[in-house]
Amino acid sequence: MKKILVATEKPFAKAAVEGIKKIVEGAGFEMALLENYTQKTEFTAAAADADAIIIRSDIVDADVLEAALKLKIVVRAGAGYDNIDLAAATAKKVVAMNTPGQNSNAVAELAVGMMVYAARNNFNGSSGTELKGKKLGLHAFGYVGKAVATIARGFGMDVYAFDPFVDKKTIEAEGIHCVETVEELYKTCQYVSLHMPATAQTKKSINFNLLSLMPKGATLVNTARKEVIDEEGLLQMYAERADFKYVSDVEPDCKGLIAEKFSGRFYFTPKKMGAQTSEANNNAGLAAARQIVDFFTKNDSTFQVNK
Ligand code: 3PG
Repeated sequence: MKKILVATEKPFAKAAVEGIKKIVEGAGFEMALLENYTQKTEFTAAAADADAIIIRSDIVDADVLEAALKLKIVVRAGAGYDNIDLAAATAKKVVAMNTPGQNSNAVAELAVGMMVYAARNNFNGSSGTELKGKKLGLHAFGYVGKAVATIARGFGMDVYAFDPFVDKKTIEAEGIHCVETVEELYKTCQYVSLHMPATAQTKKSINFNLLSLMPKGATLVNTARKEVIDEEGLLQMYAERADFKYVSDVEPDCKGLIAEKFSGRFYFTPKKMGAQTSEANNNAGLAAARQIVDFFTKNDSTFQVNK
């Protein structure tokens, strides 16, 4: 019998785990659960006899792939798959997939929620500002960017987007201004929300040159990855622009310095929680389980990311 391991250092909601189990067992497979683990060795031990693994931000590196002797497929229940060593997976003939779009609404709601929090001075009781009428720049326009646009337009924001991989017509069809250069996005928008994956090209790409183009009252919202930020540039922006605020889902490495010097101008979640809702857990977890069942029973490799 095939064993499907759900390995989540940050567990899914209980209902999502039950839903995954139902799908897996309904297909005649067995589910194993490893939650809240603290050591990589716990993961490698659990992976040893797994035919498939469902993960969230859990690291699947060459060691895990080496230990997982029977592994055929790993599915990242979520969007970003920078936590999987794709080259090592391909070398071991392991299929890697994600579940695009399944948790995007949760991330989008958090992004807009953090914008409100920043605009209202971290709910400290002082007079803040409103989002209505402000310009919002979406840096990358995938599922999350699109969902943020829908919510932000409900707030009466004027939405702009830059994405070199999405054509102008697709962006404009959503009633969003499409800008041709990344510089134009930052120059135009008081709020910029990041929605790109962490890749060799995007890592450290949000730097002082870009941020310093932002108009007065600049707020940067990061529900993407901390790695896309050039933290030296971020600190310089804080130091040179007293109007600048940064809100991010997960703490930057320089959090201590920011907290010490720039109090009231930041908010960082203690743990990545953009996709941490029962709905997103259900959507992404169940999609991952279905993709695994379809892979084994129908040879379906839609959503494979290491082709
Ligand atoms: C994603 O890439 O899907 C999000 O960052 C969510 O990550 P998580 O599953 O670890 O919450």
